[in-house]
Amino acid sequence: MSAVHVSTKINGDDVEFVCRPDESLLDVLRDRLGMTGSKEGCGTGDCGSCSVTLDGRLVCSCLVMGAEVGGHEIGTIEGMAQGDKLHPLQQKFLEGAALQCGICTPGFLIAARALLERNMDPTETEVRYWLAGNLCRCTGYDKIVRAVMDTAKDMRKAAAKSSAKKPAAKKSPAKKTAKKGARHAA
Ligand code: FES
Ligand code: FES
Repeated sequence: MSAVHVSTKINGDDVEFVCRPDESLLDVLRDRLGMTGSKEGCGTGDCGSCSVTLDGRLVCSCLVMGAEVGGHEIGTIEGMAQGDKLHPLQQKFLEGAALQCGICTPGFLIAARALLERNMDPTETEVRYWLAGNLCRCTGYDKIVRAVMDTAKDMRKAAAKSSAKKPAAKKSPAKKTAKKGARHAA
């Protein structure tokens, strides 16, 4: 089987690799690129522990072929913390003991981040529906859902604070060329 050369972006970095055409993105990440944060729970798209984003969409990396990701952007758990600073979701998972063995945790974190990027004010039902494709065999779901809800609350508070700090936008002076009473300048 001939090898495929792929150029892609992972967590903002340009990455190139060579893989077999039948190799999953999960195998490429773990075995070729040494990015072992994404876990293999089932290998059949049922557990969500291999979740990554592909151009912002949440996908199971065990169901995506490595050869297909050329020219696309991938987000993995390795890109979630900024240096030593954990992502707020990671922090809340730790504080709320929302993990035990940790196998499912990277997938939950990636999925939860994708949710909060779309909706910073989800209901508990929305969180549970969104995370329905992620399975945990040990912690149970209540602490995980609580950690996501608490993170969302903190993010909303931070967003409100930063918008309160922003100076009000200055009104632009009326254009001299605008006709009296015109809704828009010509
Ligand atoms: S390993 Fe991909 S969904 Fe389970
Ligand atoms: S913490 Fe063990 S499977 Fe979720």
